[in-house]
Formats: sequence, C-alpha cells, structure tokens
Amino acid sequence: MNRRFGMAARALATAALAALSFAAAAQTVKVGVVLPYTGVGAEFAQQIDRGMQMFLKLNPAALGAYKVDFIKRDSKNPGGAEAKTAVQELITQNKVEILTGFVYSPNAIAAAPLVTEAKVPMIVMNAGTAWITDLSPEIARVSFSMWHASYGMGVAAAKTLKAKTAVVGYTDYPPGKDSLEAFKHGFESAGGKVIDEIPMGGPAKVPDFTPFFQRVKDEKPDVFFVFVPAGDHAVAVAKTFAALGMKQAGIKLIGPGDITQDTALQSMGPDAVGIITMHHYNADLDNPENKRFVAAWKKEYGAGSTPDFMAVQGYDGMAAIAHVIVALKGKITGEGAMAALKGWKFDSPQGPIMIDPATRDIVMNEYLSKLEMKGGRLEQVNIGEDKAVKDMCKELKVGRCK
Ligand code: PHB
Repeated sequence: MNRRFGMAARALATAALAALSFAAAAQTVKVGVVLPYTGVGAEFAQQIDRGMQMFLKLNPAALGAYKVDFIKRDSKNPGGAEAKTAVQELITQNKVEILTGFVYSPNAIAAAPLVTEAKVPMIVMNAGTAWITDLSPEIARVSFSMWHASYGMGVAAAKTLKAKTAVVGYTDYPPGKDSLEAFKHGFESAGGKVIDEIPMGGPAKVPDFTPFFQRVKDEKPDVFFVFVPAGDHAVAVAKTFAALGMKQAGIKLIGPGDITQDTALQSMGPDAVGIITMHHYNADLDNPENKRFVAAWKKEYGAGSTPDFMAVQGYDGMAAIAHVIVALKGKITGEGAMAALKGWKFDSPQGPIMIDPATRDIVMNEYLSKLEMKGGRLEQVNIGEDKAVKDMCKELKVGRCK
C-alpha cells in the first residue's frame, strides 16, 4: 500500500515538474541577433546591442512575464554570405522564433528567402535599401529606408538651401544606389539638376575619397550629396572635404545623417561645421524621451560616450520585439508578429514612430540639421522638420518599389 502510494506520488511529482518546465519554456522566446560583431561594422553592432539593452533597462515591465534568450551571430562583413549561413543555423539548429539585427542591406537581402520559407518574423534594425521589406511578408523595419532621408534632403536642397545643381557621390551597393535615386527624385522634382553621379567603392573598406572629391570640386555644384555607410567612411568624407578646401570653394556638403553619425562626429574636425543632413535621429534632439535616453546612456557607458541612430534603432527594435512577444503571449508566428506590428506606435527617443500597416516599414519624423561648433564640440542644430514621413520609394512606386 505504502509502496504503491509512493510510486503514485513520484509519478505525480514528475508530471508536475514537466508541466512546470513546459510553462517556463513557453515563457522564454528565442531571438536570433545577426550583427557585424567584427570587422568594419563592429561599432555599429555595439551601438545596436547597447540600444536593445537600454530599452530593457529603461522599460523593465515591457516584457511582462516573458523572457528573451538572445542568440547572437556575427555577420562579419557586408557581403551577405556569412549572414545567410548565420540565419540558416539560427533557424534550423537554434530554432529561433524571431530574427533581428541586420546592419548591411546585402545581409538582410540574403536572409529574406530563408525567413519566408521558415515563416520566422524578421525585424530589421538598420539595413536601409527601400525594397528589403518587399522581399518577404515576414519582414518589418524599425530603422529607415534610404528614401526617408535622401528624398527629403533632395527637396530641402532645392527649396531651403536654394541649390540649383548637385553632384551625388555614393558607396556602390544597394543602399547607395537607392540614396542616389531618392535624392535625385526629391531634388529634381523641386527644380534642381543632378549634374554627375559618382560611385565611390564598396562598403567593406574605406576608400581614398580624394580623386572622387577632386572631380566634384572641378565641377563646382552648389551642393555635394554624399551617402556612405556611416562610421569610418563618414569621418574620411568630412576630412577629405576639408583637405580639398571644398567648403572654401563654395560647395555645400549634404547627405542623409549617415555622414554625421553622432559617434563619428567629434573626429570630423572643425571643417565639418556647415554640413547639412536630413535624418530621423541625432543625439542632440531636444525631446524628453531623448534626454532620458542620452542621460541613461552616458551613465551606463561613460560621459564621453554617445548613442547614435543605430543605437536608437536597437532601442526601437527591442520595443517592437517586446510588443510582439506580449501581444502574442509568447507564441510567435510570422503572421501573428506582422499583424501585431502593423499600425504599432511607440514614443521613441527620435519622436513618435509607427509601422505602416500597408508596407511594414517605419513612419517617422525627419530632422534637417546643420553642424555647428559649440564650446569646442560639434553639435547638430535643428533647422527643419518633416513629420510622419513614409518610405517615399513605396509611396511614389518608383524603381524597384513599383
Ligand atoms: C545598409 O547597408 O543598408 C546601410 C549601412 C550603413 C548605413 C546605412 C545603410 O549607415
């Protein structure tokens, strides 16, 4: 009798334990993070990672009863091949339920067919080529399309800066080509003329910009619009522009905010004063959410550190992931995740953001800024603002967005 009772109790206890661990497992969502932890984009990966952590720190209740198990993989370079292998392994071996990260467009492009096949939702935290969101119904983007900033910069170059001629220099890969098309559409629709288009090498290595910039100096446009993939590329752009005396020659350097990334800004030197950019974020933005974000960042990572647009994209992306997990009660499907994200709104340090239900791309403000020197520090001073901007490539249905 006693023995039989003992066996029954043990069986019950085992069943209870199994139920408990099942419940615990259901509470934890596996998120695969694909970022360039090494190589030319390593600082970007750190910014995005820190942005994600900062969201969790400043919003401790956002995940409710759920936990996230982050599985991080190094996409290494902008080529796409390593990212594809990483995504394949994350899906088939690690069985991740959400994929995120993706700094470089070719990496996001390579991942698209895999997430379509596996029906795993993918939340892009940087990669900016407009048509990435059209490659799979499983993709939503919390960062930007190149058209968000470059189209608006084109319009502002003609209308606000009164430029009549422009030369475009761009890093020769999908977001660079997109940035050229976007600027050209905006600028020429507002009456300007692009007189030259200059591909300036690939994203993997910072080129010597001198021959490209000398050509522009000789052409004497009113504005020189440049897209490079931020970081060391951006510092080299500002330095070459200064070394060739292009400002003194009467040419204005303009671009999307990738060329004035906050983390690269103070290395650009005093000749960067006067650079004008359009972008969705800079650390100098004056709103309460951003003040809280930047103060918390400096407390965590040091007074000399600063978040940049990639950090805020990590922050917003983590907010989106938390929203999906709670909305779906931890049971993630691609379809469910996209349904939860369509129309999702969030008060970001960059201002209000929303995921466009029609395109799964972001809707956000774009800020026109001018670099000024204040107390020995380069600062992004707001000189204009476009509210609730959508991806103009899809709005206008041009090029690959038809
Ligand atoms: C991209 O590859 O899509 C990309 C990378 C860096 C940027 C912008 C876009 O600053």
